[in-house]
Amino acid sequence: METIVIKNGTLISASSEAPCRADLVIADGKIGAIGHFNPEGAAHIYDASDCLVMPGGIDPHVHFALPAGGMVSADDFENGTRAALAGGTTGVIDFVTPEPGERLMDALEKRRAEADGKVLCDYSLHMSITEWRDSIPKEMAEAAAAGTPSFKTYLAYKSGIGLSDAEYVRVLDTAAQNGYLVTTHCEHGDLVDFLREKFIREEKTTPYWHPRSRPPAAEEEAVNRAIALASTLGAALYIVHLSTAGALKAVRRARAQGLKIMAETCPHYLLLHEELYDGSFDGTARYTMSPPLRPPQHSEALWGGLMDGTLAVLATDHCPFCTKGQKDRGRDDFTKIPNGVAGVEERMKLLWHYGAAAGRITPAQFAALTGTNAAAIFGMAGTKGSLSVGADADIVVWDPKLETEISAARQVSKCDESIYEGWKTSGAPRFVFTRGKPAYTEGKVIAEPGNGQFVPRRLRL
Ligand code: URP
Ligand code: ZN
Repeated sequence: METIVIKNGTLISASSEAPCRADLVIADGKIGAIGHFNPEGAAHIYDASDCLVMPGGIDPHVHFALPAGGMVSADDFENGTRAALAGGTTGVIDFVTPEPGERLMDALEKRRAEADGKVLCDYSLHMSITEWRDSIPKEMAEAAAAGTPSFKTYLAYKSGIGLSDAEYVRVLDTAAQNGYLVTTHCEHGDLVDFLREKFIREEKTTPYWHPRSRPPAAEEEAVNRAIALASTLGAALYIVHLSTAGALKAVRRARAQGLKIMAETCPHYLLLHEELYDGSFDGTARYTMSPPLRPPQHSEALWGGLMDGTLAVLATDHCPFCTKGQKDRGRDDFTKIPNGVAGVEERMKLLWHYGAAAGRITPAQFAALTGTNAAAIFGMAGTKGSLSVGADADIVVWDPKLETEISAARQVSKCDESIYEGWKTSGAPRFVFTRGKPAYTEGKVIAEPGNGQFVPRRLRL
């Protein structure tokens, strides 16, 4: 592979608040050297003057081609990873969701077949545990050995993929005994199911009722329960898409006690609010995701959590469904709207504009929240998420002043809507490299399907 030099950039590292002006040499797909070089002999030179050079983003929570009620989320592995690259993200972690009775390794093989050869950037997978049987500990060991040592559990969706508490404690205990990580969607499933059924019975059918069927207390109770159970059993726990001030408080308290509790939030919980569910279908179906949007005071608390490190990761839960032909199946019944919104393409731009450029977080925190912390938590440190010599050259050259406007018409995502339509942000990628190859340059994704690889992970908890 030809040598590339990224010249004159300001290197940003999650571990140091002192930016460093330097050149970065890419050789054989790895970061070969960092310093000041005469680029003579380099096959390609990229000018990064006035730009920041950072580890490519890692989004550890995406759902590409997610089946839901006879539909499939709008972006498959090919297009989803294309959207990721367009936003500066060079690695994603999606999910395996086994069918009832299906062995975990069979489900893993099937999910990999959907992605391998199609992804444009590297990807990994979390394994979902959606039911308990005696063979699950052995099956979890096989999945972990195959590079999938993080296990997703749902306390919502009790009639489908959700776990009872009896099943959940068994998963936590198995994880604790073997050094796996449990990730959990925390909502009180029975309360949510009860409220949804009640509202439909009362003919309260518009998306206005969606957030009312999944109130903050449903998340806060489940987060407190998950922390209590995980800490009793000694399991490491990562809470996905945390959306409320009360749940954040519980995580902060647990971390202050030294417990192995980590959490992420998503851009929509920071930037969009419950009042958007105004009662009409057309204007608001696009905001149906679980957990739902919250009143603004929750967002303010979440920003505080990103700033003080209580929240380790900004993920996206990228899972958009088109309004036409998908979300509109729930026109007369909000419980039939497939849940989920986009984010993988916008995540880094939004966090830069509203976080770093607004002075809420430093560039070092930006690098930590968008990639470095996820690499460390999910077992990829050393190869991903840092600008260290020998690491994979997954790199974003970030122009902090580059202005772009978000629009469904121009986005890579195949969703027919954008929940951020018309938003103007400053800060965007100019060049993105994956394993040392140019993957995005000046507004265009140039990586081809099959450019990415499966990344097996090993946890160091
Ligand atoms: O609304 C959401 N979050 N959809 C994706 C599936 C899930 O619950 O994470
Ligand atoms: Zn999700």
